[in-house]
Parts: sequence; structure tokens; C-alpha cells
Amino acid sequence: MAAHLGCHNIADLRKKARRRLPLGVWEYLERGVEDELGLARNRAAFDALTVRPRVLRGVDKIDTACEILGISAPLPLAIAPTGAAGMMWHEGDLALARAAAEAGVPFTISSASTMDIEQIATAGGRRWFQLYLWENRALSHAVMDRAASMGCDTLMVTLDLPVPPNREYILRNGFATPFKLNPRNIADVLLHPRWLTGVMGRYALSGGIPTQANLPDQLRAKVTQGAMPGAFFKQDDLDWAGVSELRRRWPGKFILKGVLHPDDARRALDTGADGVVVSNHGGRALDCSIASIDALPAIVAAVGNRSAVILDSGVRRGSDIAKALALGADFVMVGRAPLYGLSAFGQAGVERALEILRTELVRTMAMMGARSIGELRQSLS
Ligand code: FNR
Repeated sequence: MAAHLGCHNIADLRKKARRRLPLGVWEYLERGVEDELGLARNRAAFDALTVRPRVLRGVDKIDTACEILGISAPLPLAIAPTGAAGMMWHEGDLALARAAAEAGVPFTISSASTMDIEQIATAGGRRWFQLYLWENRALSHAVMDRAASMGCDTLMVTLDLPVPPNREYILRNGFATPFKLNPRNIADVLLHPRWLTGVMGRYALSGGIPTQANLPDQLRAKVTQGAMPGAFFKQDDLDWAGVSELRRRWPGKFILKGVLHPDDARRALDTGADGVVVSNHGGRALDCSIASIDALPAIVAAVGNRSAVILDSGVRRGSDIAKALALGADFVMVGRAPLYGLSAFGQAGVERALEILRTELVRTMAMMGARSIGELRQSLS
């Protein structure tokens, strides 16, 4: 049982994270792109969805067990890939992975993680690897080989950032690269002494600010000296043939992240994908993108009986998970929710975030009259 930590919901963890982090790191965690309409749209779409509960179903035992890409899991949830977790907590990737392992849910290692695959793998548990491609594809293939040899059973290729996203706040905060100290961020860092000592101080003692750990040696640069996570990646020329090649190279499960159109979902299956992640990158890619939960039903109708359909972007409550599954998703991924917990309390905070989502899901299922994930799925369609 995760410690309570004085947080009743994900919003409580978010508040504590906000207080702990300097503005530059906080905004990297929290913000969307441009006018942040996509970010708001994800939430508005979830909020607008309602359910028609059933009564007298005998809901004294609620079972959230399910299958996630062929393997049983206690909860229909995986942790989404997020770069720069090491700036939110000392060795943040490891804390996320350990909490996921503890909860029995998959953890996705980001291509832009601040610890390398080998270090994160020491957490145990089920791990996946998320791929962004470098221009020199051979370097990416080498990272894929490392991920496979470190026991990642699933490759998730992210498709929704063909070009870098427009994150204007990063430039303003001076957390862009090369890292520039300016009066605003010096004062801000000094005003967050717990972060300064607990995160930066510990790195200073153990060999320096984290690098983008999965970068091949040829491209390696410190986060403070090189590009922000993701900036070195270049996949604007990636096409379906390129995805087929990745499929052929990868021995395990293969899923495509950032699919919002049913025709692309069909094409993904033709290419041999085992599933698609219906995602708009948490409102961090294209600001005018459809909300993922709004895109879900058409994709479920197109490919739901032949492949895994995963909903990602905007999940903050267990009831959001219930809504996504009721619309036909197999499971959801969460990005910011665990990062709030991580930034506030490290591994214990991630465990708390997962526990909050689990208990909220159980309560929602009981209220809806759905005793199992099977009963919940498609109950809205
Ligand atoms: C992300 N996301 C992301 N996605 C990805 O494929 N590779 C990555 O390296 C990252 N990095 C990243 C960093 C941070 C700080 C955030 C918040 C998100 C997107 C992530 O995987 C997921 O799609 C969204 O976070 C889902 O939306 P919610 O749950 O944050 O609303």
C-alpha cells in the first residue's frame, strides 16, 4: 500500500510538484504548445463524457485485472515515456520504473531519458522502449538492439513529432540549450532549495548533471550543454516503408504512438504493428489536434477487433480510465500524473499516483455496475 503523502488526488500531487520545481523544469513537465488549446481540449473532452450507470450488479468484488499486449496485468495502465525525468527527481527514470514494477504495470523508457536503458532495467518489472529516430538510422538501430537485449518486450515508435514542437516557454525560461543562466532562472532555482540540493546537489556529488543517456557516443551531450531532450532527433522523412523496416528489425511487440486517424490505424496494422497509441502527446505536439479521447471511437471501430488500442493524453482520474475503456480502449497510458508524484516525492509519489488512479477506477467501476474490465470495455459504445 502506497504512503498517503497528504494527497487525495492527482491534482494534490500536481500542486506539490509545482511548489518543488523551479519554473523552467515545471513548465517543461506541465505545459503544452503555443496557446495550449490542445492541452485544455484533452481535459474538456474527458469532462464532457458521461456514463449511464447500471445498478444492482453485485459490485462487492471489482476486478481490474486485464491483459496488456499479451501479458496479464493488475491494472489497465502503463506509464508513458517521458524525457528529462532526471531533472524532476534525482535518478527520476529509475524511481518511475521501480514504482511501475512495484505496481505490476509496464514502464516505457523514453529515447530522451536521463538514465540509460541498462541502468533503468535494474528496476525489474516489465519495460518497453520508446523510439525517436536520429538522422543516422544505424544509431537508432543500435539503441533498439540494446533495448531488446535489456529485456524490453515492446517497441513504441512515436510518430507525432515529425518536426520539433513549438514550445515557446522553453526559450523564455532559458532552459533551452545551450543552458543559459539569466536573472529569472537563477532567482528561480535559488527559490527552490529542496530541488537544488535534492536533485542538482546529488548529481553534483555523483558526477554531474544528467545526460541524454541513450544518445550514442557520437551525439552525446550534457543536457545543460547540448540540445533539450528530443532536439537531436530527426524523423521528418520517416514514412510507412521506414516503419516497416523497424517492424522487421524488432523481435518483440511493436506499437505506434500518436495515431489519431482511423486510416493510419489500419495502415499501422498492415505494417505489422500489434497496436496503436491514440495520443496527441498530451497536447505537446500540435495545438489544434483533436483530443485523443474524441479520436478513440473511430479507431476502435477501424481496428479494435484486430489489435490493441491504447488511449493516452489527459488521464487524471480513475474515471478517465473507465471512460476510455468503456469506449473500447484496451488500456491507457499516463504521462504527467506519475511525473507529478515523482517531482513531489520521488518513487513514493509515483506509487501514490498509481494507487490514486487504481482506487478511483475501482470506485468508478462499482458505481457504473462493471465488475470486471471485460464488463467495462465497450459499455459506452
Ligand atoms: C512526454 N511525452 C513523450 N512522449 C514520447 O513519446 N517520448 C518522450 O520522450 C516524451 N517526453 C515527455 C516528457 C514530458 C515531461 C511529458 C509530460 C510528456 C508524451 C507522453 O508520452 C504522453 O504521450 C503524454 O504525457 C500523455 O499525456 P498526459 O498523460 O501527460 O496528459
